[in-house]
Amino acid sequence: MQHDKILILDFGSQVTQLIARRVREAHVYSEVHPCDVTSEWVREYAKDGCLKGVILSGSHASVYEVDDRAPDAVFELGVPVLGICYGMQTMAQQLGGKVEGSHQREFGYAEVRARGHVDLLKDIADFTTAEGHGMLKVWMSHGDKVTELPPGFKLMASTPSCPIAGMADEARHFYGVQFHPEVTHTVQGQAMLNRFVLEICKARPDWVMRDHIEEAVQKIREQVGDEEVILGLSGGVDSSVAAALIHRAIGDQLTCVFVDHGLLRLNEGDMVMEMFEGKLHAKVIRVDASELFLGKLAGVNDPEAKRKIIGGEFVTVFKQEAAKLKAGGQGHKGATFLAQGTIYPDVIESGGAKSKKAVTIKSHHNVGGLPEQLGLKLLEPLRDLFKDEVRELGVALGLPPEMVYRHPFPGPGLGVRILGEVKKEYADLLRRADAIFIEELRNFRDEASGKTWYDLTSQAFTVFLPVKSVGVMGDGRTYDYVVALRAVQTSDFMTADWAELPYALLKKVSGRIINEVRGINRVTYDVSSKPPATIEWE
Ligand code: XMP
Repeated sequence: MQHDKILILDFGSQVTQLIARRVREAHVYSEVHPCDVTSEWVREYAKDGCLKGVILSGSHASVYEVDDRAPDAVFELGVPVLGICYGMQTMAQQLGGKVEGSHQREFGYAEVRARGHVDLLKDIADFTTAEGHGMLKVWMSHGDKVTELPPGFKLMASTPSCPIAGMADEARHFYGVQFHPEVTHTVQGQAMLNRFVLEICKARPDWVMRDHIEEAVQKIREQVGDEEVILGLSGGVDSSVAAALIHRAIGDQLTCVFVDHGLLRLNEGDMVMEMFEGKLHAKVIRVDASELFLGKLAGVNDPEAKRKIIGGEFVTVFKQEAAKLKAGGQGHKGATFLAQGTIYPDVIESGGAKSKKAVTIKSHHNVGGLPEQLGLKLLEPLRDLFKDEVRELGVALGLPPEMVYRHPFPGPGLGVRILGEVKKEYADLLRRADAIFIEELRNFRDEASGKTWYDLTSQAFTVFLPVKSVGVMGDGRTYDYVVALRAVQTSDFMTADWAELPYALLKKVSGRIINEVRGINRVTYDVSSKPPATIEWE
């Protein structure tokens, strides 16, 4: 099935991916590509007739600092173009207008007056002034500004400090906005982007996860044929959804390998087996490698050394299993594909996009180079999807929402939540304490929003501190271990605030842990934000 599509050219703004997500929220398929693609590339991209519009992103740079320009073909295809911030400036400059540097940076909330009654903003306003002007509450972040409209353009929006805050050439359907419609601070941002892609570009809103299953299944079948596939299942969202999708497509031609390193959460291994083997009837090989991992970790205190051991052993164990499956036998011809849960942000970030971020959370299961080392072809059925789409797809495939909307869990697992040396005794205590914390986060609701505290936090867990403190229980003295509760709120995991959990919740959790987990007699709450602390303790 061919989808209409919107091309987003990335000039290096931190929020380019948000543009793509907003377009997809309008159920229109969109792709992000670096701004330095050539005109030939653009013409080739548009050849199938599915390209309905182009969006030029913002940039962290000034048009005077860098020479990034949109490929000329963008303005020659006859499709609508929307320039955002830097995108508007380069559009203005390339089409014969003027851009001037400014000493004054405008950053943050602004009220913009809509002008010119253009299609993009028609009937979209946050409020109307006494004089009857439609006003928009927007997010601005720029230094340079357009000072002269290109021929054919009229003024679409203005603020006192930025007289040309928006411009439009309605004959060619070219629009530019100095503010950022993709961020939620721009109240009518989604309405503007919807207007652009649905009404101005007239793109068909056919990007729907429920319907995507059938399409993805077809694609997997075509790619795989009658060959066999191996997938490393971790219990995380991406590998779980990939497994469910591939299993839907090719059933028993898929074998999942689930390496249990003994550092998973309480009952997690059993739950993964119950879901995939029990409910989906997928073939899953569970490798119980906990003794191997604990053996290798004995006596190791340094966090980075622990990470390396866990990551390294994981690859070794997985490779051994994969080699067996590749060799075939017992009615199997041998696997030729390795499936991975790579998602679209990974693709954008490794594809030379300007917005490449320095730090990304990599699952240690998506180990680069593994398919080549194993001599297997790569199958990545989620590589077009954003995380929220992966989750939606997972639910549509029948995975339980609790699994699909779970907080992220680091590859090294409890290995980085037990400070210093990892011991089985510590892991067992930690698992039980952590399960209580998570259970109560799911039980407690915030009255104002009606949401549970699990949903109100981005990541929450318990950390084991291998120190003992004195306590009193009944008539006796105790001398037991300490745990710390950690709960954070964040949108990108690069910075995070500690969550202001209700005291009643903390009280319940601490009471239960101390009463139910013998061996722990003290519970603390971590009130450090990131930076300067990190989310995990190691
Ligand atoms: P920090 O502790 O750096 O964590 O603030 C940020 C996010 O990354 C996760 N994290 C990891 N994930 N392997 C992973 O797969 C790791 O080694 C690892 N270390 C941290 C952490 O859980 C948080 O979501």
